[in-house]
Amino acid sequence: MRARLLGPILAATCLALAPGAQDLERAKKLFLANCASCHGETGDGKGTTQLDRPARSFQDGGFSFGNTPEALFKTISTGIPGSPMAGFDSSLSEEERHLVAAYVVTLGPPITEVKEEDMILAVKDKPLVVRGLLPSLGEGLPEHPRGLLIGDPSGITFEYRVDDVRLLALRQGGFVKRSDWTGRGGTALEPLGKVVHLVEGGKPQGTFTLGAGTIELEARLAGSNAGKKASLSYHLVRGSRELAHVEESPFVVNVDGVGTGYGRSFELTGVAAKCHLALQDQTQAAGARSAEDLDVPGLSGASMTALVPSGQGTALHGFSVEHGRWSRKNGVLILELEPGEHVHLTLLTIPSVTSLPQ
Ligand code: HEC
Repeated sequence: MRARLLGPILAATCLALAPGAQDLERAKKLFLANCASCHGETGDGKGTTQLDRPARSFQDGGFSFGNTPEALFKTISTGIPGSPMAGFDSSLSEEERHLVAAYVVTLGPPITEVKEEDMILAVKDKPLVVRGLLPSLGEGLPEHPRGLLIGDPSGITFEYRVDDVRLLALRQGGFVKRSDWTGRGGTALEPLGKVVHLVEGGKPQGTFTLGAGTIELEARLAGSNAGKKASLSYHLVRGSRELAHVEESPFVVNVDGVGTGYGRSFELTGVAAKCHLALQDQTQAAGARSAEDLDVPGLSGASMTALVPSGQGTALHGFSVEHGRWSRKNGVLILELEPGEHVHLTLLTIPSVTSLPQ
């Protein structure tokens, strides 16, 4: 066993971090302590923990989200939304995550280096935004001639349609390949990440409505921004009347021991006469149980969190409102907005809760 492992360990870690023998011992210990229960001691995917889906066999090179040390580091840090694979960014230090990533490389088949083509965009330490035609997300789902991708440094990509702004899906892995750099409009995008979460089955309703959910609003794109965090700005419009201006930025949420998901932060500014914006309140969904005692990052101000039965087991939903008047009833959250007034709203979803601290 030892002899069989040691060769590939030395070969592959030279590529990665070139840790010394001592580091390798540490890396292996970290793997055995934190990962082997699901992935198996040899990385064959046959751990002792019973899971509703198999953990990856690293030996077979089952890496959907990239097999380079950098890609593995991201997956290990962030976790995989909607799966039992939680993020380790708070339980392992950065150095430990690099070590364990280098160790996982050694468990897989040898890496054949792919020469990165110029057309492939990779996200480094700042988010990237690209626009273009988005292919269908799956059977029965349309392509979106006007789409936008936000690549987060965590390895997660947020996929939006922007003809009427709506978050469609989360992907994980590489960012995007462009088949035409110079094309203006109609540029086809090829998202490289694997879809890990479809928002409302990939055909989401608009987030904001009027009349407690009865009157739909259009979210008309005004622009996009990629600074330290990426954002979209749009106008909420009914007919020719603009009701509010919205600045939305999505982010990745990792609740220690609970699971990985995403949040959407909204800066709303009232434009027209006073209005009551409504949105679906998932924390009031059927079967919801309060989760107020969970420590959920990203929510600030008055907040609600709840565990809700979902197709994949249990989901965690939450929201918070800062500087605003709000109420909730019959599954709807209502925000009151005066012209010129700013309200900060955050929505949070962990599609599949892995386990709950007792
Ligand atoms: C609670 C069980 C569990 C634990 C503990 C766990 N994993 Fe996972 N891991 C999974 C499952 C399940 C998947 C497959 C998720 C999917 O694709 O749906 C996975 C996927 C992965 C992947 C993704 C491979 C790909 O497709 O690119 C990597 C890398 C990984 N795990 C590394 C680790 C490391 C390193 C540790 C320890 C620090 C660890 N995991 C701990 C369950 C676990």
